[in-house]
Amino acid sequence: MSPDGSTTILESPTLAIGGRVLPARYCLAPLAGYTHLAFRRALRELGGLGLATTDLVHALQLLTGNPKSLALVETHTEDRPLSVQIFGGEARVLADAARWLEDHGYGGVDLNMGCPMAKVNGSGGGARLMCDAGGAARLVEAVVAAVSIPVTVKMRLGWDRSSLTAPALACEFESVGVAAITIHGRTRAQGFQGTVDLEGIAAVVDAVTDIPIIGNGDVRTVEDAARMRQVTGCAAVAIGRGAMLDPWLFRKLGDIAEGQPPRDPSRDEQVDFLARHFALMTEQHGERSCILFRKFAAWYGAKLGIPEDLEQRLRLFETNAEFGEIVAEIRERHGDRRQHVATALIKVPNGPVERW
Ligand SMILES: Cc1cc2nc3c(=O)[nH]c(=O)nc-3n(C[C@H](O)[C@H](O)[C@H](O)COP(=O)(O)O)c2cc1C
Repeated sequence: MSPDGSTTILESPTLAIGGRVLPARYCLAPLAGYTHLAFRRALRELGGLGLATTDLVHALQLLTGNPKSLALVETHTEDRPLSVQIFGGEARVLADAARWLEDHGYGGVDLNMGCPMAKVNGSGGGARLMCDAGGAARLVEAVVAAVSIPVTVKMRLGWDRSSLTAPALACEFESVGVAAITIHGRTRAQGFQGTVDLEGIAAVVDAVTDIPIIGNGDVRTVEDAARMRQVTGCAAVAIGRGAMLDPWLFRKLGDIAEGQPPRDPSRDEQVDFLARHFALMTEQHGERSCILFRKFAAWYGAKLGIPEDLEQRLRLFETNAEFGEIVAEIRERHGDRRQHVATALIKVPNGPVERW
């Protein structure tokens, strides 16, 4: 696909990860607190999504039945294909959690290695294992050996600019049987600052022999996705904040993969998405959804150009019936305000990031 959106690469739109075939090469990157079940289902209904991954789940808390962890792995027959992302510093616990997931019917396990060395070390002083790719690989190997579903890894480029360990680790991870690797093209030290290093992702693509590398970071448009694929040679792209900014991005990428012009959503489709997101949330959380949905008020307000008074009502409504009334009014009045969504509506940590 070229940056102008036309198709130049003849490739299958599907992608195999281990024994799993994804319907598309564009995946939803986990955004803890945003990419919950209702959002994933609403997004899938728009089309074009290859794979979604849950928010990161603490492996030990999952095993001990912590209600919050169990809520994070809640899914639905329509929420497929799905991987569950787990984290933890102990190989045995991670392997047990992976086995639990397989036993409960999940189709894939994603290991959050954030900055891999920090995680493996567990104490926050990641320096020791920075030179020990073998140690990280043994941890991953234990998980791969525990299950027959595909195990994938998500990680950053490395600790900081002077220690870009991802290519060496990717190579090790491939040799112990990891089915795919998602690379966020920033270092731990960078946090969310600066731009994504596409050359850094390309180095990871070059380091592995067969497994798909999924490029991640700063993809917000079809052009960004094309650039990620072309510059890095990655087999697939994971999109996080871009999916919040434009839930139709996957559909557009699917249109392009089929040689069709990308379709923008109509205004009605945009309001339908808001209503559907809430309806699916209600299926899972009942009346509590009225409170849970409030954090999306500002985002939908800006996204749909909803007048301030309606956005305020989205922040305060208490019943499903009230929500219905607000949506009816939005249908008549949205677009009154200029549509503008800043990435800033999704808060990112300020400093270095250990986990994501
Ligand atoms: C609010 C927020 C929550 C995130 N939660 C997770 C998470 O649970 N697991 C993970 O691997 N990455 C997480 N990330 C990182 C994203 O998956 C992704 O790597 C990063 O945002 C860069 O991609 P993007 O520019 O497409 O958003 C999170 C990022 C943000 C902003």
